[in-house]
Amino acid sequence: MAKHKKGKKRGKGSQRIKAKKVDPSVPSVEKKKELSISAIKEGTVLDHIPEDATFKVAEILHLGHHNGTVSVAANLNSKSMGKKGIIKIEGKFLTQDEVNKIAIVAPDATVNIIKNYEVKEKIKVKSPDVVDNVVKCSNPVCMTNNEQINTKFYVVKKDPLKIRCHYCERYMGKDDLEIV
Ligand code: CTP
Ligand code: ZN
Repeated sequence: MAKHKKGKKRGKGSQRIKAKKVDPSVPSVEKKKELSISAIKEGTVLDHIPEDATFKVAEILHLGHHNGTVSVAANLNSKSMGKKGIIKIEGKFLTQDEVNKIAIVAPDATVNIIKNYEVKEKIKVKSPDVVDNVVKCSNPVCMTNNEQINTKFYVVKKDPLKIRCHYCERYMGKDDLEIV
C-alpha cells in the first residue's frame, strides 16, 4: 500500500524552525529571582523572621485559615541575618495582640503595612511580658494540659527566649514551643 504523506513536501533544509519570539517584557533571570515572592497590594509583610521561626509565626497567626493570598518564604539569604523568613499576607492587618504574639518567636521581625503597593508603616515588634494562650506548656502534668484552662507564661528573657508557666512554673525556651 502506498504511503500518503500529509502536507506539503518541503525541500531539504527548508524545515520551519518553531522558535518562540522573545518578549522584551519578560523579566531577565536577575529580575525573576527578585520576583520569587510577589509584591502585595494591601496587607502585611512580616520580614526579618529568624529562620527557625517562620512556620511558627504562620501558625500563631492561624494563616491556614486566611482567605487572601499568603506567601511564606523560609531560608532566604539575608545580609544582616544570614538566613531569614518572610511572610506576605494579602488583605490582613495585624492587631497589636497579634504583633505581640509574633515577638515571642521573632523578636527582631519587622511588620510592614502595605497599602496600594506602598510600605505605609514599618513596625518593630516588641516582646510582651505575659503570653496568654499562645503556646502549650511542655509539662504533661501541668493543669493546662489536663483541664480546660488557657495557658499563661511570663517572659523571663526575650532573646534568647525564656518563659515560665504561671501554673506549674516550668521554664521553656524557643525550641520547646508548641502553638496552642
Ligand atoms: N513589599 C511587598 N509588597 C509591596 C511592598 C513591599 O511585598 N507592595 C515587601 C518587600 O519585598 C520587603 C518588605 O515588604 O520584603 C519591606 O519593603 P521595603 O521597606 O521596601 O524593603 P526594605 O527597605 O528592604 O526593608 P527593610 O529596611 O525593613 O529591610
Ligand atoms: Zn505548665
